[in-house]
This record gives sequence, structure tokens and C-alpha cells, in this order.
Amino acid sequence: MDLHVNLVGRGRLAEQIYRQIRARIRDRRILPGSRLPSTRELAARLSVARNTVAAAYDRLTADGLIEGRPGLGMFICETAAVDTHPAGTPAVVGRPRPQPVWDQIAEPTDMSATDALFDLRPGLPSLQHFPYHSWRALVSRQLRLSAPRSDLYSEPAGSAVLRAAIARHIGVSRGVSAEASDIVVTNGFQQSIDLISRVLLAPGDRVAVEDPGYPPPAMLLRSLRTRVTGVPLDDQGLVVSAIPAGTRLVYVTPAHQFPTGMSMSPGRRRELLEWAERSDAVIVEDDYDSEFRYAGRPLEPLRGMGPSWRVLYVGSFSKTMLPSLRLGFVVAPPSLLPAMRKAKLVADWQTAGPMQDALAEFIDDGRYAKHLRRMRRIYQDRHQLIAAALDSDFAHVLERVPSMAGLHVAATLRPGLPIDDRELVRRARRRGVELGLPLSHFAITGPSRPGLVFGYGAIATERIAEAFDRLRECFDGPE
Ligand SMILES: Cc1ncc(COP(=O)(O)O)c(C=O)c1O
Repeated sequence: MDLHVNLVGRGRLAEQIYRQIRARIRDRRILPGSRLPSTRELAARLSVARNTVAAAYDRLTADGLIEGRPGLGMFICETAAVDTHPAGTPAVVGRPRPQPVWDQIAEPTDMSATDALFDLRPGLPSLQHFPYHSWRALVSRQLRLSAPRSDLYSEPAGSAVLRAAIARHIGVSRGVSAEASDIVVTNGFQQSIDLISRVLLAPGDRVAVEDPGYPPPAMLLRSLRTRVTGVPLDDQGLVVSAIPAGTRLVYVTPAHQFPTGMSMSPGRRRELLEWAERSDAVIVEDDYDSEFRYAGRPLEPLRGMGPSWRVLYVGSFSKTMLPSLRLGFVVAPPSLLPAMRKAKLVADWQTAGPMQDALAEFIDDGRYAKHLRRMRRIYQDRHQLIAAALDSDFAHVLERVPSMAGLHVAATLRPGLPIDDRELVRRARRRGVELGLPLSHFAITGPSRPGLVFGYGAIATERIAEAFDRLRECFDGPE
């Protein structure tokens, strides 16, 4: 074999020989089964000591890439090549590989696509009722208006007008008292938890999430190599006594738990705050769809119940407006704000300026509040229809989890049924009803609870009855 090795300088020659031969074996430019030149032959060709080549061959042997055959010489192992290229594809040397943690993260699913007749997937707002006309006018006006300077890079923490509008809105609608300067605008909840984690956590830190729970934050926390524990829920919400000692951050959805739909009781909220105080931990409060509340007195957000530095309050416009806008925010304590601003800068510098200013105008001129009022009535009707169907026709097979807010309702499977929730989702799909994922899918680290989650953002109110007729058949048999 005419093996070409390109040596640069005199230092670490064995290392250079080792790396170059290894790369060629891996990209199959040297094929398994071929014979390498002997150490004497290669040393002479490269004008290096024989020991230098022997040291490189030893390392290749230790890596399992080459093997000696007595009396015959050194050969490339049959199992050595890791990169295979279809014929004609140029070989890539040292192809980059992701860190193993990415193998544990679920594949993204395309939430936009479904040809189902009845869309009951959770987490989707109504497109039918979105005020496209006025929103489009606002955005195009912003694009026309922008002074040249504001079309350039701007404040990472967000547009001043939007931060002020958000502060006023959450003050009125959620009783969260915050100044514009306490707010960082983000590209939705998912970026908020990313910035918070970058600022507060180090690899190996212990963090806790609700179990069952919303998977994306758990995935983010795992990707940052923190130790994630799922904490079970009881009928009051997160079981605070089950949070592991040493936990630095707890992520919760107290207004409308995802995916069960329950609210955390006032007593449990106080217990959680006391735990955070004792443990010197922080709470991330995800208030993602609490604007839609249909009964009972609004429960005070955790942010308003304890010292403001214990709770990072996170909001999103994905449910009240559209997920595609990628607009959300964090209300952070003053001690974290400078770092949060830097974290936003290193993540993506800023959220799109014209979208921020269009949203500020939408909030300030009252159209946002009007849109919320309208949507609350529509979603409330759907919530009632679904709750009534579950409590009557399905009571023998499903137990509805009490809920009074948001865009979805969950129900657990009664014990002893001869069917699991995955199969029910499949049967529903065959009947044109798309439920997305079963409740058991949302287990984080604990045992899974079988059940179904019914989203009513995307389905038209008048189609709910037929969707539930079809669902009823799923419990009778496979077809
Ligand atoms: C629990 C929970 N939090 C937050 C969000 C919103 O996330 P984002 O703002 O990243 O769209 C969702 C959306 O489904 C959710 O289910």
C-alpha cells in the first residue's frame, strides 16, 4: 500500500501518523482487510525512527482499528470503519459527531401537519379566530415605520414599548407587579427556560420538574447536563416533600398543569415557596395559558405570593396569539437581570423588532384584551362541552382531571380496562380524530399514568360532539 502520511515539523510525529491513518481507516479510504506497510518500511519512507511508527501502530491496535497477523504483518480490522459513504460520495475526514446527550432528546415533531378531520391535539390555539387582518396591518406598519436605527441591532432585553406593555398587562390581568425593567423579552417560553438555566445552573446541578410534565424544558435541562428529577403530583399539585434534597431549581405550571390540567392548590403553593426559601432554590413559574380561566376565583401566581427573587415568572404569547410568532417573556429578579440580558445576547442577540413593536401596539390599544375576552368565551364553551361528554358518556372508562383553565382537559384511564392509552390514540387516529400523544407519554422519570389529553384550541366548537362520538367507538373495539 502506498500510504501517504504528511508530517509537519518534528514534534509528536507518532501522534501525527496515528491520527492520519486513523482518519483514513474511518472514512474508508483504507479499506478493512488491507495490509499496512511494515513499521520498518513506513519509517524508512517517512524518514522517522522505527519506534515512532511502532508507537502509532500500537495506538491503532489499542483502538481496535488494526491487528497483527503472525508472520503476515498489520491489517485493518474488518470492524474498523465507522463512516460509510454511498459510492461516489466524497469522503469526509473526522466527521463531527454530536455529544451523546443528544441521543436522549426526542426527535422534533411537525406540529403544523395533520390531515385529521378532528384535531384534538393539546397546545394549539384557534387559527380560525386569530385577528389576522389587524395583526397583518400592524406588522406591515411597523416595517414601514422603522427608523433606520431601529432596523439595526437593538436592546437584547427587548423593545422598551413592549416591556412596558407587558408589565401593564400582567399587572392588570395576572396581578403580577413588575416594572418594564424587570422584563426580558424572549422567543417564547422555551427560550426563557434556556436563558434562565444558562444563568443559574451548572452541569451536574439538580433540578426538578413536574411528573407527568411538559417535555421540552426537561429536554433542555438534560441537554445542559443537569440532573433532572420528575416529582409526582397528587390532587393538590406537585408533591413538595418529594423534591430531592439539593435541588437548585423547580419548574412548575401551577395555574394549569401540563398535561393534567389541574391547578396547584393555595396550600401547596405556600408549601412550595417555603421549601424554596429553606432550600435557597428558585422556582420557574410557567404561566403559559392561564389567561383562559373559566370558573372559580383566579389563583394568585406564585410570583405574587413570596419574595419576588424566589420566582421567575414566565409568560408566552403562543397560546393567546400564535406559536409561530415566538414571543414570550421572563420577569426576573434584579440580581439576575444583567446576566439574563447577556444570556439573551449570546443566544440570539434579540427578538425580532417589528414583531415586538406590533405586539406592544396590539396590547396598548386594547385589541389584545378584546381578543382574549373573545377567545375566553369560545374556549369556555369547548371546555364545557368536553367536560360534560367525559363526565357522562365516558365516566365508566375515563376519570376527568378537574380543571378550570387553559386549552386542554385530561382524563385518566380507569384501572382494569383491556386497552392502553397508546392504542386508544391509534384507534382514534384511524377514525379521523387526532389526539397527538397519550398521557403516558408525558412521564418524566417516574411511572407513567395512562390517559388521554384533549386539546380544544384547534377544533371548531360545532365539531366536538362528532369527535366524541367517534372516540366512544374506540373503547368498543379496534375497528
Ligand atoms: C406547558 C407549556 N409551557 C409553555 C408553552 C409555550 O411554549 P412556547 O412559548 O415556547 O411556544 C407550552 C406550549 O405548548 C406549554 O405546553
